[in-house]
Amino acid sequence: MADVTVTYMGLSLPNPLVVSSSSLTQTPEKVQQCEAAGAGAVVLKSLFEEQIEAEIDADSGGTEHTEAMDYIRQMQTDAGMTAYTRLIRESRKLVSIPVIASINAVSRDWWEDHVAALEDAGADALELNISLMPHDYTNRDEQILQFYVKTVEAVRKRVSIPISVKIGPQFTSLPATVDALTWAGASAVVLFNRFYQFDIDVEKLSLTSGSPFSTSADLSVPLRWISMIHGRSKAELAASSGVHSGADAVKVLLAGAQVAQVCSALYRHGLEHLGVMRKELESWMDRKSFTAVNQFRGKLSQKKSDTPVAFERLQYIKALVGRE
Ligand SMILES: Cc1cc2nc3c(=O)[nH]c(=O)nc-3n(C[C@H](O)[C@H](O)[C@H](O)COP(=O)(O)O)c2cc1C
Repeated sequence: MADVTVTYMGLSLPNPLVVSSSSLTQTPEKVQQCEAAGAGAVVLKSLFEEQIEAEIDADSGGTEHTEAMDYIRQMQTDAGMTAYTRLIRESRKLVSIPVIASINAVSRDWWEDHVAALEDAGADALELNISLMPHDYTNRDEQILQFYVKTVEAVRKRVSIPISVKIGPQFTSLPATVDALTWAGASAVVLFNRFYQFDIDVEKLSLTSGSPFSTSADLSVPLRWISMIHGRSKAELAASSGVHSGADAVKVLLAGAQVAQVCSALYRHGLEHLGVMRKELESWMDRKSFTAVNQFRGKLSQKKSDTPVAFERLQYIKALVGRE
């Protein structure tokens, strides 16, 4: 029988299927259900800075007294942190798989002060969900990268647990970004977050949103970048966006991912789909005579390829010629 145990950021996981940060992991009971269904680890629902800020605004009642505002701000922040540290502490008590806390923040100062509490509560690692909307025409690419780097450096100083950084797919250079995050202190990078799907309703003439859920077709982008970065950066890589089946998990491992994060597939098929995916992974390994994940991780990465240039192809020259 194939051994599907893996390590991720120095943590031991019974298998490489990690439940992504989402409402699937937002209560200790749900975390327990993830473990029972066969998760290798969980990333807790993110603590959103914006959410706490909104609660602060709602509760301020329009008061303009700065001291009162400061007091409300402190109370709300404490309440948000207390609820989140309780989620970590109680989840940690209920399961034996790694519990990774997640913070989504848009400004650095706010959360630097709070991350130590997550480690104290028992989080095994911290996933920094850094999603910066680069809408400002005056922000150059280097300034944007520096925001990510400085954030990781600041958090690195305050916690000793491993840190991963979850990013989106759009950077001037993803390999350089992953390297910079590693030098700043990240042990792993999660490729990629799936952002709010911006869309337009042509009947209502209004903005709307597309499906928050991915399909296997979305796997192509993480697959390409994981295969190109694996073995060339110190960072361990976690795949996210489009892992829907055991075969998808095999693909990201072959590309070089340490783990496969799963989200949409579990909303679609239920948590028991983790068991199906694990069986598919094990039977593929048996069929291919692999007894451990390390034997095939990164086998189809660019670094190990005899034709590395094939990984850099951008255009469909032949297909287009054929259709002309
Ligand atoms: C309903 C829902 C809630 C999510 N909440 C979070 C979150 O709190 N933090 C986060 O980092 N990602 C969040 N995500 C993104 C997922 O963790 C994941 O990165 C994304 O869905 C892509 O993976 P998938 O293709 O397996 O769905 C959420 C996704 C969904 C669908």
